[in-house]
Amino acid sequence: MPTASLPSHSPREPLPAYRFDDAARSISIFNPDLPSPWINYLSNGSLHAFVSQVGGSSLWWKTPINFRITRYRGWTTPTDAPGFYLYVRERDGSVWSPTFKPCDTPLDHWEARHSPGVTRFIARRGSLEVSLRLFVAPESETLVWDVEATNHGSEPVEIDLFGYVELGLLEYPLESTWGYYVRHQFKTWFDEAAQAQLYLFHHESHPRLADVPLVYFASDRPVSSYSGDRQGFLGHGRTERNPQGVERGHCGNGSLWGGDACAALQVPLAIGPGRTERTVLSLGVIPGAISDFEGAKKNLRAELARQREPGFVETQSAKLKAWWNEYFSGFECSLPDPDCERQISVWTPVNCVHTGRYSRSFSQYASGLRGFGFRDTAQDMLSIVGRRPDWARAEFLRLLQHQFSDGHAVHTYFPEDNKTPSRSIHSDDHLWLPMLAHAIVAETGEVGLLSEQTPYLAENGLGKGDRASVWEHLLAALDFTESHLGVHGIPLTLQSDWNDCLGRFARKGKGESVMAAQQYIFVLRQMSELAELLGDRKAQTQIDERLIKQTKAVQDVCWDGEWWARGFDDNGVPLGSRQSEHGQIWLNSQTWSVLAGCGDNARQITAMDAVSRILDTPSGIKKLHPSFPTFPETADAFSGYSLGSGENGAIFCHANAWAVIAEALLGRPERAWKYFRQLVPHLALQQTGLDRYQCEPYAYASSILGPENPRFGQATLTHVTGTAAWMDVAATQYLLGIRPTIRGLKIAPCLPADWQGFKVKRRYRGTDLHILAAQRRAGADSRVGALVIDGERHAGDTLVPDWIAGKKVAQIDIEWVS
Ligand code: NOJ
Repeated sequence: MPTASLPSHSPREPLPAYRFDDAARSISIFNPDLPSPWINYLSNGSLHAFVSQVGGSSLWWKTPINFRITRYRGWTTPTDAPGFYLYVRERDGSVWSPTFKPCDTPLDHWEARHSPGVTRFIARRGSLEVSLRLFVAPESETLVWDVEATNHGSEPVEIDLFGYVELGLLEYPLESTWGYYVRHQFKTWFDEAAQAQLYLFHHESHPRLADVPLVYFASDRPVSSYSGDRQGFLGHGRTERNPQGVERGHCGNGSLWGGDACAALQVPLAIGPGRTERTVLSLGVIPGAISDFEGAKKNLRAELARQREPGFVETQSAKLKAWWNEYFSGFECSLPDPDCERQISVWTPVNCVHTGRYSRSFSQYASGLRGFGFRDTAQDMLSIVGRRPDWARAEFLRLLQHQFSDGHAVHTYFPEDNKTPSRSIHSDDHLWLPMLAHAIVAETGEVGLLSEQTPYLAENGLGKGDRASVWEHLLAALDFTESHLGVHGIPLTLQSDWNDCLGRFARKGKGESVMAAQQYIFVLRQMSELAELLGDRKAQTQIDERLIKQTKAVQDVCWDGEWWARGFDDNGVPLGSRQSEHGQIWLNSQTWSVLAGCGDNARQITAMDAVSRILDTPSGIKKLHPSFPTFPETADAFSGYSLGSGENGAIFCHANAWAVIAEALLGRPERAWKYFRQLVPHLALQQTGLDRYQCEPYAYASSILGPENPRFGQATLTHVTGTAAWMDVAATQYLLGIRPTIRGLKIAPCLPADWQGFKVKRRYRGTDLHILAAQRRAGADSRVGALVIDGERHAGDTLVPDWIAGKKVAQIDIEWVS
């Protein structure tokens, strides 16, 4: 292979910690020593991994609960380890890694480049450059390690590459409790013909025993040594930083019948001057190895032969790229603000795929044990539906199968684990169903979805119960709320509403939630539209009556004078009131009053002004104020969260998205965009500073510590947060204002005064719309007066699907009202 070109920057220029390449949809990281792991997810939808900027990583198949293949340590030091490690051993015995860690050997150039589904490390030491590209093949259950080594010198060089991963015991909860027994229930061995290190975990009570896979780590070149024995490879008392196997230049060829497993391979390379040599390692699974071991071995050989065909890596990487391109092409914008453009077109959608796949479950911070939150997935799909309605539809039907026939839903479910869902009853979980149904019908126009028959969850929480139409499921959700109202006529909080900790005020079962009331009003409106679409007059009449009654209840009893209360405790005392000592004002009941359209406009404005005055900070909007004192100041704390953190006065990013929407609905663009921009991760990091903000500039954080916390401004728990989906909805549907409705695609942007316009490419019901919103006068109204569709003018702001029916592409020019 000829020499690959070197990275463009000169080592003399000081490099920034990171730089986006928008054309390539990637971010390059130049500083390995970041205050936290900045991870990327690699996946084909069933084999998944995450990898940090220094190679810290975990690999799992289908579920990190029962098929966790490699270990990862997120908490105890050294954190962000172990990982997918590649060691380069030069002839003088020096050892380094293109991931920088675990060796920490100083390098002349180092870069980690995350792009959707792919992470590439490029490192140079002296005249040797090594690139490691990692991605999961879309058509194979394998993580590809595509390694290229380039000799920029004038002499031939010989090196040894060592690939290494630490293997776990698949069943992660079991490993934590019974690992000391179960560690004797696996084997590792080397398969000479396949040139692959193999691992089979054979605990006889695995919840999906028949699917347990054969794990392989293989090389496309002959290996000179191997190991399945962690201690044999690392050496006693050593770590991944200085493995004895690498130091001595031989992995040790150890196999195990129980103990501490790893997979290590040594691949020698000779590289001529100015030449590049390539080798591909693959870490993957062959399912069904316990039920049919011989069959699995046969499949392994066939699979590796397929992978070793010329062009396999290129084809798979092209298919992966095509998947992402197709996904992005669902909505892309061109804006006067490049930071918002990048976030809206690329990084929020990337984040949404990850929350869609992993819910709140697995990341560098999250243990992977949590399964799928019912409310979480229902909200995540509100974003996915815009670019991948098929995915949202499938997930919606799965959610319905986790709803009981009385209308309420489970709280957490485990789609891949044969595990009983968690059954605590919350006031909100089931109420997200109508919202998602409405979003799917508005996006696709598929009214037939509502008539589809699908089962409820059986009463014992396992298996299928009675079947009913989707529409009946949705009506049952409303009935559940209607039959669980409190003394003020608004929904009982039950275990909690969307706020996990609100149940603290409702332990006797009498507390009530204003947010749940507003959410109920929101979905009653949507259900009324769906009832009309279906021609179900009876249901519509009942829904409309409930809507009037519920709106009146909120109006009559939930206004506190300057803002909406947050609820009532078990004794009927208002929460989130000027009379409260702590938590006088809460964000959600202000934003949701606007979303739900309850309360007159003057009240909504007064409430949102109070948000700006009391809750907004330079780092985002706090969830409540003032924070509640907690232990040991008070034994009777609202929650265990310290002041200004998590649910107790942090900037809870998910809830900030609703403030963006509320301000956009109120027609106040400057505030709406301010709230949006201040949480764009890159801008938040720039504003706060890397050392304090700490987290990725491309993935949303769940929360940012609030001003009452000494570490105000520090982001926490990135990636696995509902912020991603709601920021996507806020930006695409409310700021840029391109919003699917039951009547058609509404275009109602809310633009900063100095914007002349924007461009959006959006797929809608099979047509690629090229929307041009231009020539707006500075400071003018951003209301849309007419849509000119391929030269034909239609008055109003809503594109009726018939106008574009049968077209592959349509040009939409916007005419402003003034
Ligand atoms: C995180 C939980 O995953 C989510 O379900 C909840 O709505 C938020 N915390 C707010 O409490």
